[in-house]
Amino acid sequence: MASLAKNKADPALRAAREETAARLREIRRHSESLAEPLLPEDMVVQSMPDASPVKWHLAHTSWFFETFLLTPFLAGYRAFDPAYAYLFNSYYEAAGPRYPRPARGLITRPGVEEIASYRAQISAAMEKLIANAGAESWPEISNLIELGLNHEQQHQELILMDIKHLFAQNPLKPAYRARHDSKAPRKARALDWISLKGGLAEIGHDGAGFAFDNEGPRHKIWLEPFRISSRLATNGEYLAFIEDGGYRRAEFWLSDGWATVQAQAWQAPLYWEKGDGWSVFTLSGVQKLDPFAPVVHVSHYEADAFARWAGRRLPAEAEWETAAALGLLEQAVDEAWQWTASAYGPYPGFRPAAGAIGEYNGKFMSGQMVLRGGSFATPPGHARATYRNFFPPASRWCFGGIRLAEDG
Ligand SMILES: [Fe+2]
Repeated sequence: MASLAKNKADPALRAAREETAARLREIRRHSESLAEPLLPEDMVVQSMPDASPVKWHLAHTSWFFETFLLTPFLAGYRAFDPAYAYLFNSYYEAAGPRYPRPARGLITRPGVEEIASYRAQISAAMEKLIANAGAESWPEISNLIELGLNHEQQHQELILMDIKHLFAQNPLKPAYRARHDSKAPRKARALDWISLKGGLAEIGHDGAGFAFDNEGPRHKIWLEPFRISSRLATNGEYLAFIEDGGYRRAEFWLSDGWATVQAQAWQAPLYWEKGDGWSVFTLSGVQKLDPFAPVVHVSHYEADAFARWAGRRLPAEAEWETAAALGLLEQAVDEAWQWTASAYGPYPGFRPAAGAIGEYNGKFMSGQMVLRGGSFATPPGHARATYRNFFPPASRWCFGGIRLAEDG
């Protein structure tokens, strides 16, 4: 009762807890709503080693809260099922052994209903943890909850990436949802080249509010003068690259990219189909290619080759962030992530957190390229100007697009 009385006397803590509980409910509910259009069968299958079944995403995001919050911080908490630690750990070596990722689609049991019960237990226990957290433990707990919520939002985008890839394998080309962009066909959008004079600048998160560890520390950089495109490259512009022999002309490609084009027989972005004109598989089924929509589902290699064909280049992530922080970029966060020319590595002074949580980002800083911005599938408010997404350069199933730059 003493702590209750104390908490009652602390309106700021009470308000913070209520706000966090509301965010938890909303974000957990949104994950579940993404699964609502699906059949149980849709939620079990894994279409490739990089993708995961929707059922796995729903369970793994709950495992994250259970492992990093409920077990260490909620007195008397008992795991829903101790076997889940093995099934639903993604990549945390410090959290123990785990089931191999490429075989996640073979796990038919626990079934979808049991995972829904698991989610319900975790959400209820998290509310209890939040309601009972005292002033002394709240800073640590609330920071971890914020990480867990942002983690779950990342998986919300992964769910859409993975469902799209799965449905694309089905000859019936099912639609996940009705067209949500029921607006009239897009119109051409003017392309402006935004000039920035460069010089000494700062990038990276300054520590105010939530950010992933890989976004900081904020640090100084030097930029030469550059120009960056106001908008994303369009399907129509990318089609001109294809029609000019883009996929047949080695001169545009990085060596690894050209080898991948040969090995994978790429002739167009992922999900493009040529029949009577070009069409593209979307979350709303097969649609006629919209020449004015941003091109998406290109790899870093394709983005880079397109840029070279266009006589330009991809922006460095520092250039992108500098322009975005000034509010100069259209289509920055709401259409497609934008491949940069920057390899994913640590900023000066980067230190991963101690323990398993330190494995979140830092250990992936090898062999990947940075994407900036956000996509239509990124939950609103999730991304920031400092946000660093990353994928291997041949990846095409993420919602990756192209923004061009050039030396100024
Ligand atoms: Fe995860």
